[in-house]
Amino acid sequence: MGKILITGGAGYIGTHTCVELLNSGYEVAVIDNLSNSDRKSLERVKQITSKEVSFYEGDILDSDILGRIFEENKIDAVIHFAALKAVGESVEKPLDYYKVNIAGTLELLNAMKKYNVKKMVFSSSATVYGVNNPAPYKEDMPLSATNPYGTTKVFIERILDDLYTSDNDWAIAKLRYFNPIGAHESGLIGENPNGIPNNLMPFITQVAVGKREYLGVFGDDYETRDGTGVRDYIHVVDLSLGHIKALESLENKKGSEAYNLGTGKGYSVFDIVKAFEKVNHVEIKYEIMPRRAGDIAESYADVKKAERELKWKADKDIEDMCRDSWNWQKNNPNGYK
Ligand code: NAD
Ligand code: UD1
Repeated sequence: MGKILITGGAGYIGTHTCVELLNSGYEVAVIDNLSNSDRKSLERVKQITSKEVSFYEGDILDSDILGRIFEENKIDAVIHFAALKAVGESVEKPLDYYKVNIAGTLELLNAMKKYNVKKMVFSSSATVYGVNNPAPYKEDMPLSATNPYGTTKVFIERILDDLYTSDNDWAIAKLRYFNPIGAHESGLIGENPNGIPNNLMPFITQVAVGKREYLGVFGDDYETRDGTGVRDYIHVVDLSLGHIKALESLENKKGSEAYNLGTGKGYSVFDIVKAFEKVNHVEIKYEIMPRRAGDIAESYADVKKAERELKWKADKDIEDMCRDSWNWQKNNPNGYK
């Protein structure tokens, strides 16, 4: 146990991870510039856990505030979520993505080095498997990217490997998330996208709550069971628990290791729509649209490495994910506003 610095801790996965860390007895400090989140999210974390978070509103590109955090707190390890994450936007604004994701990570790593904190859990993504590997994806497959967002994740993984090579005191877990959905069972925290959602589940919940008329299904002519895209959806609480297991693994394992965090099961867009309708008793209208540029037919994880080395396995099923996503959305139709 000790104090963990969470960058981007006010965001979707960050808030859920704060809750699980606090419930497990860790202390937590958060840095977040609230560019894609609301300070209310951390008040909700407090409401759920009855515990305090040391919150610093600031940017990971700001070395002064990073220094202040390490001076004022005895940080044992860092979980690094802060990043820009919209694939389409990254094609429009590559310089913003390279600055926040790559330069921001470099600032953070420099501060960690200065204060001799050499344990990091990093948010990578299944997107690093690119478009040429066959599913199920295994950690030792070659990495590639087709857009600036993905490139930042591939590049940061490489930076972390090089850092470990230069100094074998570092202990780094690169967690490759598949598709996180769902929300805490309290319905108090959840995903809160700005504007029109890019991802499937927030779009479905906005259709269900009446904010959008219908779901556009991006292609029904893929080579999959029913023609729609297949993904490995994982409940955000399972994902958060994976971070705690990864932190524990860093206690006695130096290196720079990648782990897939998924369930290992693939579900199509139609599977998700049907499951959502069934467990929540709502209708999701949809229309078939053209394929979305950059999409692949199927993506799901080989989860054996995380099971074996982190002693972690996702527990919740697709119905839990659909129920909890809806519970959050219907109780908070306008997110934290
Ligand atoms: P999110 O946008 O909800 O959380 C990111 C947080 O970082 C936000 O609260 C934002 O305000 C903050 N932030 C952004 N730039 C910052 C900066 N310069 N300084 C300080 N704070 C900053 O996103 P999320 O879904 O919780 O994702 C967390 C991480 O997981 C990201 O690195 C993302 O790339 C990665 N990831 C997410 C998914 C997903 O589907 N949600 C999948 C794979 C990987
Ligand atoms: C997207 C990102 C990917 C990122 C991942 C997790 C793109 C091109 N890729 O991928 O880099 O790692 O999120 O955050 O944005 N779908 C619809 N209608 C919608 C939305 C989605 O049919 O309105 C379909 C998609 O075609 C896909 C599935 O639903 O088959 C899941 O989509 P999404 O939630 O965006 O995740 P990914 O495609 O895996």
